[in-house]
Amino acid sequence: SARKVGTETIGAEKELEGSLKQLVAKLFEIALTVTVPDEPDVEPVVAPCPPKFGDYQCNNAMGLWKKIKDKGTQFTGPQPLGKAIMSNLPQSEMIESCSIAGPGFVNVKLAKPWIAKRIHKMLTDGIETWSPKLNIKTAVVDFSSPNTAKEMHVGHLRSTIIGDTLARMLEFSNVKVLRRNHVGDWGTQFGMLIEYLFEKLPDWEAANDQAIGDLEAFYKASKERFDDDPGFKERAQQAVVSLQGGQEKYRKAWTRICETSRRNFQKVYHRLGVHLEEKGESFYNPYIPGTLDILNKKGLIEESEGARVIFIEGKNIPLIVVKSDGGYNYASTDLAALWYRLNEENAEWIIYLTDVGQKDHFDMFFTAARRAGWLPADDKKYPRVSHVGFGLVLGEDGKRFRTRSTRVVKLVDLLDEAKTRCKVAIIERGKGKDWSEEEVDKTAEAIGYGAVKYADLKNNRLTNYTFNYDQMLNDKGNTAVYLLYAHARICSIIRKSGRDIEELKQSGTLDLAHPDERVLGLHLLQFAEIVEEACTNLFPNILCEYLYNLSEDFTRFYTNCQVVGSAEETSRLFLCEATAVVMRKCFDLLGITPVYKI
Ligand code: ARG
Repeated sequence: SARKVGTETIGAEKELEGSLKQLVAKLFEIALTVTVPDEPDVEPVVAPCPPKFGDYQCNNAMGLWKKIKDKGTQFTGPQPLGKAIMSNLPQSEMIESCSIAGPGFVNVKLAKPWIAKRIHKMLTDGIETWSPKLNIKTAVVDFSSPNTAKEMHVGHLRSTIIGDTLARMLEFSNVKVLRRNHVGDWGTQFGMLIEYLFEKLPDWEAANDQAIGDLEAFYKASKERFDDDPGFKERAQQAVVSLQGGQEKYRKAWTRICETSRRNFQKVYHRLGVHLEEKGESFYNPYIPGTLDILNKKGLIEESEGARVIFIEGKNIPLIVVKSDGGYNYASTDLAALWYRLNEENAEWIIYLTDVGQKDHFDMFFTAARRAGWLPADDKKYPRVSHVGFGLVLGEDGKRFRTRSTRVVKLVDLLDEAKTRCKVAIIERGKGKDWSEEEVDKTAEAIGYGAVKYADLKNNRLTNYTFNYDQMLNDKGNTAVYLLYAHARICSIIRKSGRDIEELKQSGTLDLAHPDERVLGLHLLQFAEIVEEACTNLFPNILCEYLYNLSEDFTRFYTNCQVVGSAEETSRLFLCEATAVVMRKCFDLLGITPVYKI
């Protein structure tokens, strides 16, 4: 039985802020304060529990008992302590019943009317009211980041897809996100590229992209010249000096190469609907001397074999910040970029997406920044940096994914192929007759690109996964195709009912009489805590799993509960609409365009 503490009533209208889990935790926080007033700052430990016990469980009693048992407490063990916590829970319309299990777990079963009311409120006030609240204003997501004049490979595709999702989740949480494309647009290779441009295309200033042709081939050819011809090599080395010295002709040629490259990358971003703001390595170049000066003054930089380095405890090889030839490198640029992001852009959380192979690089310069006092020692505290690593994309042969003809996969072709296959499937299903050509094209695009994204995002990012069109385009199982169809089916149920949801919202109510309705309702309510978990732990697969389970819960509900024409029609249409709204928000956060018709 619940007890009222003071005038506090949790779960009432004004207290609706926060995720379900946070609201339950708030109740337990109060109960804990009342139960053990001499133990302040006991964080409530609350988690969903197996359905046979209830909906959520508080696990504080056992740990707390260990803390207080030798302090002359009135309690005789963890279970009585758990019972006391339970009876000190403040009165709340959230809770239907509580129980004690095992050595002091407190189980809570949520009240159906409260769950129903909360879903109804989301339908009227919008899904934004279920967004996570993060304690930061500004974040940098450093993602995609291909290298100029080189082909963008599947690793960059993963970085783009995962990075975009994380950026979307942060944006949904009202964080200002600086979406940074840290392109590799600076370095000694530009000497050879510029020199090759002069040689191959003397009228390069007037030439168009076609004349430059395939940039990867261009890169390869210039590298061959560089390796084979000492005269060329010397001119290339001189060209770097001229470029870095700011000579106009060299600057222009560099800009030209970057633009051509950028236009190629843009084709991929355009297809994926991903927005990025380029601040390449070249941007941070002027900030490197100042940054190294700061680190030097803190005594972090040492001399080693002609290079300037930072030694990192536990690592055999130091972080090189000035090469022995006096040039800067990847690490010097990243240190300057970090300085810039912290001090000029006031970013509180800086998130980097690259394959797991670069983990060491990030660990090392993060450690250097921590030693410089730029970041707190506790890596969960802000300002904070996180390296979001991911595994490889494999081909059917279990090796790194590449096509037969080219060394790397052309991403534009890969995305186009997914779209083409979807188009074929749509036409085969006879939709070419009912739909306009534009509709067919837009649907094929949404499903095809969505499938590629989802196949990537649904895996734990740290693992490798196999790229397989047949699997990702299957309309059964955990695929975007299945989920997009599920969403379209819900929309069609609502359409076919002939009822106007907006109108129903004015007076209609929701109740969750059938057990499958309650399961679906509770799952909908858990959206906020799932997004928060996926976002703060940087694992988009958590959201994918939620979305897939949601559609399974919906299917069970729809199989067992008649919607249209039933006595509960209004209420059940609300459940359909709420499911569609939450699914759409999941799609949106995953960068997938929803479809409404199948
Ligand atoms: N250009 C790099 C690559 O292709 C990725 C850059 C990642 N970002 C960074 N700040 N280091 O591997």
